[in-house]
Amino acid sequence: MNLDSPMSALDYQSGFGNEFSSEALPGALPVGQNSPQKAPYGLYAELLSGTAFTMTRSEARRTWMYRIQPSANHPAFEKLERQLTGGSLGQVTPNRLRWNPLPIPSEATDFVDGLVGMVANSSAQHPSGISIYNYCANTSMQRVFFNADGELLIVPEQGRLRIATELGRMELGPLEIAVIPRGMKFRVELLDAQARGYVAENHGAPLRLPDLGPIGSNGLANPRDFLTPVAHYEDRQQPTTLVQKFLGELWGCELDHSPLNVVAWHGNNVPYLYDLRRFNTIGTVSFDHPDPSIFTVLTSPTSVPGLANLDFVIFPPRWMVAEKTFRPPWFHRNLMNEFMGLIQGNYDAKAEGFLPGGASLHSCMSAHGPDGETCSKAIAAELQPSKIDNTMAFMFETSQVLRPTRFALECPQLQPHYDACWASLPATFTPNRR
Ligand SMILES: [Fe+2]
Repeated sequence: MNLDSPMSALDYQSGFGNEFSSEALPGALPVGQNSPQKAPYGLYAELLSGTAFTMTRSEARRTWMYRIQPSANHPAFEKLERQLTGGSLGQVTPNRLRWNPLPIPSEATDFVDGLVGMVANSSAQHPSGISIYNYCANTSMQRVFFNADGELLIVPEQGRLRIATELGRMELGPLEIAVIPRGMKFRVELLDAQARGYVAENHGAPLRLPDLGPIGSNGLANPRDFLTPVAHYEDRQQPTTLVQKFLGELWGCELDHSPLNVVAWHGNNVPYLYDLRRFNTIGTVSFDHPDPSIFTVLTSPTSVPGLANLDFVIFPPRWMVAEKTFRPPWFHRNLMNEFMGLIQGNYDAKAEGFLPGGASLHSCMSAHGPDGETCSKAIAAELQPSKIDNTMAFMFETSQVLRPTRFALECPQLQPHYDACWASLPATFTPNRR
């Protein structure tokens, strides 16, 4: 496996959950004190809390920023005329749903206008739950955005992005992911003509690495492969629109400066990148296969041990060696609710119909698994070690039922006959022959 970073030449700091620090000018970071009477270079000190002050030390996330202008220097926000597509939820349905990829718009559309709400299980006023979006964009943002409603997990399927955040710049493309903390200001610039992908908005506890249990101290996503930017500031006195999403609505105001003006910072409430190709995939070397939780990259827990508000799970390239085993994902009905997407290639449970950029929803207790063609082939296969390659499917899995938006239920990309993929399962029961 090529472990050379395909990421850009931008500088990063490595690790997960660390107390990071960075300064774009020497000595800009105060030493021994967070908020000195007079910060270096005439900067203003500002705290961004990602958790309540009184969270346990292991849960607390906060970052101190030293900036040219404090964020408080802004006029009143006004509700924008153009709101997000797919903002309101539609009819609850227990049915299995699948969507073709959404088209890239022909009119100029930046990352914020390109967000399309697909499913959600909570409104942002509750401290749990998730909302899931697709994004389709063809224009770099000129404005700067922050999301008061939750943390954003961005999963590109097409097109490379540069994300300029308050804490520095990150670049990523398909097979990489980025996480932006709740409230952090950022601007998404397109490095290719168009960009498409998925976003999970996490209203609950911030994402973190899953515990490894008997796996031990190594494996799955390793902390050192997560990359956080270094300080980079814009000292620009030019009109800039600042947009926020607040309880699902977009509000904007005009600034006379760039709000990406943080010269130095320290803390653990940070944006980060991860290259999915660095995931250390673990599976069976005897028979059967583990539950898909073995593929968890990041998790947002609930207060119930082991019950996730959001698991980000991937299905990466891997060797299949299980003997005497039905190798595709088995037929199953789960407590959890599964929203799946595909970044590249094919997913090993479906012969057709699940396309890169598309999505599927299998809700609590809905029966699903391999389609008829995949199932028949798997039963008949002469099993040899084989590699599933050039693929990357993923799942946003959550403990509360996801409700589709009206848009998701009415858009032409919703496949009308998804159930049919299981209708071709042959009757193979022979009571007289074991
Ligand atoms: Fe499933």
